[in-house]
Amino acid sequence: MLRFYFDKASGKYMISVRDLEIRIGARVLMQDVNFRVDKGDKVGLVGRNGAGKTTLTKILAGDGQASAGFVETTGEIGYLPQDPRSGDPEELARTRILNARGLGDLVAQMTKASEDMGSVDEAVYQSAMRKYANAEERFNAAGGYAAEAEAEAIASNLGLKEHILNQPLKTLSGGQRRRIELARILFSDAQSMILDEPTNHLDADSVIWLRDFLKSYQGGLIVISHDVELIGETVNRIFYLDAMRTVIDVYNMGWKQYLKQREADEERRKRERSNAEKKASQLQLQAAKFGAKATKAVAAQQMLRRAERLLSNLDEVREQDRVAKIRFPDPAPCGKTPLMASNLSKSYGSLEIFTAVDLAIDKGSKVVVLGLNGAGKTTLLRMLAGLDQPDTGAVEPGHGLKVGYYAQEHETLDVSKSVLENMQRAAPQLADVDARKVLGSFLFSGDDVNKPAGVLSGGEKTRLALASLVVSSANVLLLDEPTNNLDPASREEILRALATFTGAVVLVSHDEGAVSALNPERVLILPDGVEDIWNDGYLDLITLS
Ligand SMILES: Nc1ncnc2c1ncn2[C@@H]1O[C@H](COP(=O)(O)OP(=O)(O)OP(=O)(O)O)[C@@H](O)[C@H]1O
Ligand SMILES: [Mg+2]
Repeated sequence: MLRFYFDKASGKYMISVRDLEIRIGARVLMQDVNFRVDKGDKVGLVGRNGAGKTTLTKILAGDGQASAGFVETTGEIGYLPQDPRSGDPEELARTRILNARGLGDLVAQMTKASEDMGSVDEAVYQSAMRKYANAEERFNAAGGYAAEAEAEAIASNLGLKEHILNQPLKTLSGGQRRRIELARILFSDAQSMILDEPTNHLDADSVIWLRDFLKSYQGGLIVISHDVELIGETVNRIFYLDAMRTVIDVYNMGWKQYLKQREADEERRKRERSNAEKKASQLQLQAAKFGAKATKAVAAQQMLRRAERLLSNLDEVREQDRVAKIRFPDPAPCGKTPLMASNLSKSYGSLEIFTAVDLAIDKGSKVVVLGLNGAGKTTLLRMLAGLDQPDTGAVEPGHGLKVGYYAQEHETLDVSKSVLENMQRAAPQLADVDARKVLGSFLFSGDDVNKPAGVLSGGEKTRLALASLVVSSANVLLLDEPTNNLDPASREEILRALATFTGAVVLVSHDEGAVSALNPERVLILPDGVEDIWNDGYLDLITLS
């Protein structure tokens, strides 16, 4: 594949793609892809889980190779991968963000110099003064304190508190790292941005802020998101990656119009197909009649050939996009209250996350945990799962407790093991054929089960993590943002299955639809640990919180 770079002035477009083909092994993900993204174009890249959206954007960002075709890019592209692991682990979060405009190292130099200015040694003091002045001058030239304040505002709007910015990257959770990367890209002033699922790990208030940010963004944008509201409000073009036809359909319109247009397109294709089929079968019938007579044999041949051509010109038959038919099996038996916790507290250094939280999860009950970013929802679930230790208090397992934990970062999966091996780890007693059967209902068929979990797409990882919960016969499910990454059809299906699950569920989610679908009886609000009977008024809290 060839790749061209133009400087800012000469190129008209941000990203241009010609005759692109992407394969993984023998499988074609897409072919004959042609599009251009100009300044001010805001593209929603959509298509079902595993269609190849992440693979395409990686290639656009220069992070991978296509099997054929051309990608040309102009200017700087800010790229947020779906699963980022970038940055020097020792670097401070603040430095990482500020360095997007070359400010971070200067701030670090200024901090160091001002420390040295406290020295009693005259020579050290003088040198520190000079260094400070020097760094400050360059700092001011690059935007200075105003830019720093801007970076801080972006970080805070993404739920990153001041104290997190002062920590090295290696001490942060995957979700925090991801938000740091997003803050870095939004702060960078790049001419275009490619964002792969930017709302994962964001709280509802941050999502709303991000929508507004993207609405007013002036550059070129390609965004992948399972959050249809974000797509609905921010984009003016849709690229639909059709996994069945392995092509990208370009729609130069907003989301609502696109939905109508695509439905019409599919109707039209169906109609054309059935017309062509009708015509072809008439031709075949006629040819059969003619074929019997020696004098008409040539005409019969021609008719057959025409019929063949008609059929081969049609779009591939479109299977209905497959969706997992999921049913959570009955959980292992347990006592009246399988999980209790009393007086749980957690702080990191001097920062108190929550204090004195009590909780009792009754058999089959459905509980939602609400709270702002950083209020400790994930921490609480990890404690209930036995993965984190509380500073005070204890988690008390009840009779027969079997916990199933779903982590939003898929950390419960072993990425070096295959899909099938991950299932066997979750349920060692499970026979191979049964594991394959469950995997099949989660849309892993044939060779898919031998893929290492590490190469799966975001949505496929989610499906695998949920499949391994299903086979574990857990009677208390602890679910941390289970609908992230899922395409709309799979999301519906999983919510439907969850609603009929007879075990207990503790759900953390900023997806209002997911919370309503669970139909919870109770709500726990962090950081106060207040418990209440659920009422629909709390739905507002999900979007407002
Ligand atoms: N190294 C690999 N070996 C085998 N299959 C792979 C490899 N890398 C990716 N795939 C497969 O390619 C397909 C496309 O993956 P990709 O991550 O691009 O999908 P996606 O459209 O971003 O999906 P999602 O919406 O779930 O994020 C998936 O089925 C994935 O399992
Ligand atoms: Mg993806």
